[in-house]
Amino acid sequence: MFISFEGPEGSGKSTQARLLAEFLCEKLGADRIVLTREPGGTKIGEEIRAVIHSLRHHEMAPTTEFLLYNAARAQIVAEVIRPALAQNKIVLCDRYADSTIAYQGFGRQLDMEMVRTVIHYATGGLKPDLTFYIDVSVEEGLARRNHGHARGEELNRMDVQAREFYERVRAGYETLIREEPLRWVRIDGAREIDKVQSELRQVLVSRLVFLTANLR
Ligand code: TMP
Repeated sequence: MFISFEGPEGSGKSTQARLLAEFLCEKLGADRIVLTREPGGTKIGEEIRAVIHSLRHHEMAPTTEFLLYNAARAQIVAEVIRPALAQNKIVLCDRYADSTIAYQGFGRQLDMEMVRTVIHYATGGLKPDLTFYIDVSVEEGLARRNHGHARGEELNRMDVQAREFYERVRAGYETLIREEPLRWVRIDGAREIDKVQSELRQVLVSRLVFLTANLR
């Protein structure tokens, strides 16, 4: 089973993905669970991540940014995600191709047909079975990011875009959720960490029960 986590900056999705992975490791055994992230998750992908997100690269063209995310994605799909799924593991991925549609397609306003074609090429058409959208408003997300920065967390190049960019990203996610309502589960991320986590666990357990029942 392939599960992805999406959401705006400061939604807390990385924390939620980690907590859900810990829960699943406890229930099913650590050898059944893979927690990874995009961009990154492989040696090559982490190096690409450093290039894309470096604040030194303010001159990066939108097309370069788009292709680098997809290069990192091609690697994680080939090296981590497909092999894990072939071994029947549960893969939890902190961001995946929907981020490119939301950020580069809607945010940077790149040609959407080209965006989808290249994603298909990078992933071989592999899509998550379930995608959690950790929902916080643009204001809340940016406020959390700034708060984190004030406490010493690093800002990356994607954290310092104009506000309209994040508004377009958010509208993009709304479109994606409308397109595939069965794959997406929207979770209110404005609540305390443990409340959000307990809803994630409930949804996941009910999905697993449903899938198991339908496989019999
Ligand atoms: P995060 O690890 O804090 O989620 O940061 C990743 C940043 O990269 C975030 O601003 C979203 C951005 N991103 C894209 O713009 N396109 C992509 O395809 C991916 C995976 C991430």
